[in-house]
Amino acid sequence: MADKKDEHTSPENPDNRIELERMAADEENKAQILAHPPEGPEGEPLHKPVVGTRVVRDSKGVRRVVEVPSTGHSWDGIEEYDNPLPRWWLWTFYATIVWAVGYMFLYPAIPLVSQATQGLLGTNNRAEVASDIRRFAEANAGVQAKLVDTPLEQIADDPELANYTANAGAAIFRTWCAQCHGSGAGGASGYPSLLDNDWLWGGTLEDIHTTVQHGIRDPKDGDTRYSEMPRFGTDGLLDNTQIRQVVHHVLELGGKPHDAALAEAGTDVYVDNCTACHGENGKGDREQGAPDLTDAVWLYGSDPATLTRIVHDGPFGVMPAWAGRLSEADIRAVASYVHGLGGGE
Ligand code: HEC
Ligand code: HEC
Repeated sequence: MADKKDEHTSPENPDNRIELERMAADEENKAQILAHPPEGPEGEPLHKPVVGTRVVRDSKGVRRVVEVPSTGHSWDGIEEYDNPLPRWWLWTFYATIVWAVGYMFLYPAIPLVSQATQGLLGTNNRAEVASDIRRFAEANAGVQAKLVDTPLEQIADDPELANYTANAGAAIFRTWCAQCHGSGAGGASGYPSLLDNDWLWGGTLEDIHTTVQHGIRDPKDGDTRYSEMPRFGTDGLLDNTQIRQVVHHVLELGGKPHDAALAEAGTDVYVDNCTACHGENGKGDREQGAPDLTDAVWLYGSDPATLTRIVHDGPFGVMPAWAGRLSEADIRAVASYVHGLGGGE
């Protein structure tokens, strides 16, 4: 196979005629320029010597070699030629300028001191959003008023309210609750799942409504749900041996692998310190938000290390109160939504 380079430079190939002509002209030009550098009338160097050539088509479509001046810019011997920009590029460029000028007059564009120029079309995204919100608020005002006036236990029986709370409640949940309880309400360590029927403070709509309204251990709400498991280790109520014993007792209550001797020794510790809230049989107490320690659902975790930390440091889960932040209609909507997730009582 013939060398590619030869193919493109071989004088035998008639297709190469123009290209060879161009290369020869370039060489000749450069030689001339080097021999007689172009000078101005005062003998000063000229900034635009012709140093290159390029191939163009004339009006009849015939290819021709033309000379191209240099811009005079040279980097390490690489010369910048003053070639014209391609037509299509230039026209696109002009078109964007025309578009920009038109846009500037029609739409808000130039920032001034207090606001931008308004534009002839008078569009205003802020006003549009505000009017959309107003429209939705007006459309929902009726159903929201009805929601607030309907006794909680009757909400689910009213198809209009049931439909509204399912949709609005889900949206409110995604906005305000999902950060802590998870987007699917499945919870995380320290944040209870709202899908199951295992409730700390109660799972009737009334209970859930109160929890959302006043929160749990929220210091800013006087009616918040409150209880405080003692910090048995931190406050020196139990020593480390007793804590180890009661942890194994809790593991036994929860049906987890445990040391039988330690768990037995932990019975007394449990009866003396824990029954007041978690109950004699470990079933918990909703009045105090004390979790059931016998079921498979754990708020913080059931491994010995987590249990030891909980008993030593005392948990203090905080759920913000929403009264004042959400309207009563919104609180009812999200409470109904949570109630309807599957664990509602
Ligand atoms: C900043 C985190 C946080 C946010 C936001 C939050 N919660 Fe909670 N929520 C908690 C914690 C923590 C608990 C458990 C408190 C405890 O340990 O008793 C809880 C408990 C609850 C409970 C009681 C569960 C039970 O078993 O009794 C309900 C119901 C609840 N949240 C609903 C909501 C709803 C509805 C929203 C949104 C309006 C919300 N939460 C937003 C942290 C949060
Ligand atoms: C004054 C009431 C009270 C007493 C007494 C009490 N607890 Fe608790 N306990 C709670 C409350 C309330 C919670 C949930 C707190 C939270 O979520 O912040 C809790 C949570 C727990 C948890 C976490 C459960 C889970 O699901 O992750 C464990 C374990 C626990 N307690 C063990 C004990 C042990 C062991 C004792 C006795 C040494 C004890 N508690 C004494 C109120 C109490």
